[in-house]
Amino acid sequence: MTERARSMIVTVDGPAGAGKSTLAVRVAEELGIPCLDTGAMFRTLALELQRAGFDPTGSGPGAQELERAFAACVFSLEGVGASSCLLCRGRPVGDEIRTEQAGMAAAAVAVLPEVREFTKKAQRALGDKYPLVAEGRDMGTVIFPDAFCKVYLSASARVRAERRLLQLRAAGRDADIREIEELIRERDVRDESRASAPLRPADDAVIIDTTDMDADAVFAAIMRAVREARAAAPVAVRMRRRDREMERQSATDLLKRGEYGVLGMDDGSSWPYAVPLSYVLSDGVIYFHCAPSGRKVGILARNNRVCFTVVTDTEPVYDKSFSTYYASAAVVGRVFPVVDEEEKKRALVLLAEKYSPEHADKAGAYAERSLKNTAVYRIVPELLSGKAKLRPAPDG
Ligand code: DC
Repeated sequence: MTERARSMIVTVDGPAGAGKSTLAVRVAEELGIPCLDTGAMFRTLALELQRAGFDPTGSGPGAQELERAFAACVFSLEGVGASSCLLCRGRPVGDEIRTEQAGMAAAAVAVLPEVREFTKKAQRALGDKYPLVAEGRDMGTVIFPDAFCKVYLSASARVRAERRLLQLRAAGRDADIREIEELIRERDVRDESRASAPLRPADDAVIIDTTDMDADAVFAAIMRAVREARAAAPVAVRMRRRDREMERQSATDLLKRGEYGVLGMDDGSSWPYAVPLSYVLSDGVIYFHCAPSGRKVGILARNNRVCFTVVTDTEPVYDKSFSTYYASAAVVGRVFPVVDEEEKKRALVLLAEKYSPEHADKAGAYAERSLKNTAVYRIVPELLSGKAKLRPAPDG
């Protein structure tokens, strides 16, 4: 693994019915990032292939059927945590993909190398755009090998069948437990024995056998793995001196009251580029604005991974040696252009209010006027750390 920051992607892999979907959503909710249900992509694709004339019990689909289905499956993602939603051609994927038959059809088409190539591209494109909890079969092994945290959930076939039955009943459907268990075993064989991207844990995955665990215990185990992976992430901003580490909360407070920050970018040449910026922190993301073109805009379009640092409370001290009291926060994350007009206006108003609170009444009109000729960007933090050397509190 190279020393570049690992992707802010948590992978959750495992066999059918291991509780991946429920837990992945819960973890995404806790982290405030989108959840990608890759099984839903295979299910949607399988149904599109059937629509294109493919019979999953017969021989494989022809080139034309595959082409038609691929063209119909334009995936995108909306929302975070429990509101994460996979869209196909701009519309949320429907409930018709959630049947056991759709699951079997998905497992049948998932063995095809063309299908895996197509889904790999679609999944990586989403991973390039968002931090993710990515749930599936080969997320940690094939799709996101540089994910910073990998989890593999397993459970006995019987327990998985019982969980599936409860889910079906909750959705108002009934089924025979033996039939479900059989389907699960069949699906395991297909998923584990296919030549292309078979189901198996990544070498660096944390394996959790959930057979005798309830959902809360599994959730706690995954979050522990996330915290440990975060602490071990090979990122430049990792603390060397633990006594100077501040809580994440303190770093957030510092970003809130900091005046200016420095945005560090990598344009792919051997010359890094950094610029000072005015910024505002709102709902966990950092907004800044700039002219719609220029060197920074060009670099960010090619590589949106950045680091952003802020320093406050500086005070030179001499106490037998030269030093400085200070507090600082460093963010590693990705930058996205804000295209939604309402969000853009809100960010411009927040910036105006932060820097000129005495003219806050004019911020709305200024934001309206600036919409066209100003670009606004959102930094989504993936790692946040703080470091401080503060003046000791006076004795007594
Ligand atoms: O997780 P699920 O039951 O919704 O997945 C349906 C099928 O899709 C599963 O049996 C195999 C396939 N699949 C896959 O091969 N790779 C993934 N990343 C996700 C699902």
